[in-house]
Amino acid sequence: MEKKELIEKINTLRKEKNAIILAHYYQESDIQDIADFVGDSLALAQWAAKTTADIIVLCGVHFMGETAKILSPQKRVFIPDSMASCSLAESCPADEFEKFTQAYPGYTVISYVNTTAAVKALTDIVVTSTNAKQIVDSLPEDEKIIFGPDKNLGDYINKLTGRNMLLWEGACHVHEQFSLEKILELKKEYPQALLLAHPECRKYILEIADHVGSTSSIIAFARNSGYKQFIVATESGILHQMQKDNPDKEFIPAPPEDSTCACNDCFYMKMNTLEKLYLCLKNERPEIFVEEEVRLKAVKPIERMLEISA
Ligand code: 13P
Ligand code: SF4
Repeated sequence: MEKKELIEKINTLRKEKNAIILAHYYQESDIQDIADFVGDSLALAQWAAKTTADIIVLCGVHFMGETAKILSPQKRVFIPDSMASCSLAESCPADEFEKFTQAYPGYTVISYVNTTAAVKALTDIVVTSTNAKQIVDSLPEDEKIIFGPDKNLGDYINKLTGRNMLLWEGACHVHEQFSLEKILELKKEYPQALLLAHPECRKYILEIADHVGSTSSIIAFARNSGYKQFIVATESGILHQMQKDNPDKEFIPAPPEDSTCACNDCFYMKMNTLEKLYLCLKNERPEIFVEEEVRLKAVKPIERMLEISA
């Protein structure tokens, strides 16, 4: 089907079904352009919690759909491709994480939002990269904390807050592959360019970055900066929004170690396409379900996060 026709059909279906389309900044450009709202993980959770739509189509990865369903159990939640997982969420199986937490009784368990509902159900407070520092800072200084699953974000937050949180050894396959050498070469080629990095990147990338932040923070920084060139160390889908916001600025994707792969693309995020979005609205599947017992446990740490970051 032609793109124009797909867009018309999506628009008709979303009206007929009172559906809202929420998209993450890593989605392909066409999906971002058709979405009712584009945002980072925190903003998507906040939207899912407050929308009056009957149906939420979450154009992102599975844990984002689950978070929406956990917060809005009375709504039907769909994602365009049920296989759109997340390497970070996969790096933290719930049974192993449970053993880890049981080995440290008395610790507060903080989980990054990039986790399954089952891991959230084992958690005291959920965080996103937007509010992780704020939430850790809100806890008493002597609180003993486990942080999972992203070791790079955890290490970065330890550095920012002076804490010594115990870290789970998880990581994201996209953010771990940026090449320090190639970024340093690019900085020579573009001496005026600022390096913007997501905190899921390795420590040595974060140490040379001019700004470290979540997707929304990177976008806001570029918008408000007087600089004209930026090297961007996060998933490449974000460049669409940055370029749209700032037609007069130049955004250069940070290169991966392996120059033969498109590793700046999160292949999970890119499993969603306009066509799958259309089919999802039409056929009302794949649908996200979360067992009620798990949901009741998982909703508490997410709500705690939303209260602190309100
Ligand atoms: P944000 O919370 O910054 O949107 O990041 C989500 C994510 O999956 C990063 O890889
Ligand atoms: Fe998960 Fe990494 Fe993809 Fe983000 S970029 S959704 S952390 S695999």
